[in-house]
Formats: sequence, C-alpha cells, structure tokens
Amino acid sequence: MLPEGVAIDPLTGAMSSSTGEYSKRLSEFRGVYRDSAALEKMLAERGDIETYRVVEHRQPGSDIFFGTTTMAPGKVGYEYFMTRGHYHERRDRGEIYYTQSGSGLLLLQSRQGDVRTVEMKPGTCAFIPPDWAHRSVNTGSATLVFVWCCNQDAGHDYAEIAARGMRQLVLDRNGSVTLAPNPNY
Ligand SMILES: [Fe+2]
Repeated sequence: MLPEGVAIDPLTGAMSSSTGEYSKRLSEFRGVYRDSAALEKMLAERGDIETYRVVEHRQPGSDIFFGTTTMAPGKVGYEYFMTRGHYHERRDRGEIYYTQSGSGLLLLQSRQGDVRTVEMKPGTCAFIPPDWAHRSVNTGSATLVFVWCCNQDAGHDYAEIAARGMRQLVLDRNGSVTLAPNPNY
C-alpha cells in the first residue's frame, strides 16, 4: 500500500483512480418516494434513469476509504431525489461528507429521535457522528457531488430506513425547500 493523490472532478464525481462503483436507478425507489403514481409516470416518460452513482477508492488493509456520490437533480412528486439513507452497522463509526458542487440537504437522525440537517454546498464539510442515520437530498437544479470518507469496517444498515423512511421529508412546497414530518413515524 502506497500513498496516492486522486483527482476528483467536482462536476461529475469522476475519480482518476477508483476500485469500484455502483449506481441506483429510479425503479429501485418504488416504495421509497411517497407519490408512487408520480414515480411510475416518470419511469414511463423518462425510462429507468440513474438517480445517483457512487465511486469508491478502497485499499485493502487500510482503516479508511473514500469516494464520491453524484446525484442527479429531480423530484418524484414533491420529494427531491435522495439516497436510500442508512445507519452504519458499526455504531461507533462516523463519516464526513464534503460537498464539491451543487446544493442539497443532509438529513440526519439519531436512534433516540433527534433530528438534524446540514446544508450541502460547495466547500462545506458535514460531520456525521457515529450512530446517526444519514440521507442526502439534492434540492438544487444541478448535479450534487460530494466526497465521503469513513472507516472500511463501518458497514451499511439500510433496513431501518427502508422500512419507514426517515423522520423528516424534504419537499418542494411552491418552489421552497421545506421539511415536513414523515407520517410513517
Ligand atoms: Fe454512511
């Protein structure tokens, strides 16, 4: 394992050196967005578009790894495009998100019911404490790109957020980014 500099394109999230990537498509969000009719309509009109992509740089044997998440702009009904949202499997592992371009909102919640948001804008680094669930929401009209870094052994626990979402929804209300309580809680 040797030191390395990795160039990151702030507008696309592309990395000059990476070890893996995956993307999420609209059809994978059935049951995630509240307006299922709007989701089906979008699928019919635009096809199964990519809503976000994750590229990672992972060196086996290292404690940390990093990568980029690149999120398309868009809405399903009144809800902005968002990531699935997760806790880490290891409850003692936090993370950072450093926004490179675009604008969004980072939704966070603790297991005790605390809720916080951090604005995502170029130059802002969000600190995600251990055992806080996190979901990124692209509230802007441009692509949202951020760099993340966490422990390789943090792991992802998607189940709880998949079951009922997060405590707060991020909605477009008459052109304004608005937080609203999730009725599933
Ligand atoms: Fe995470």
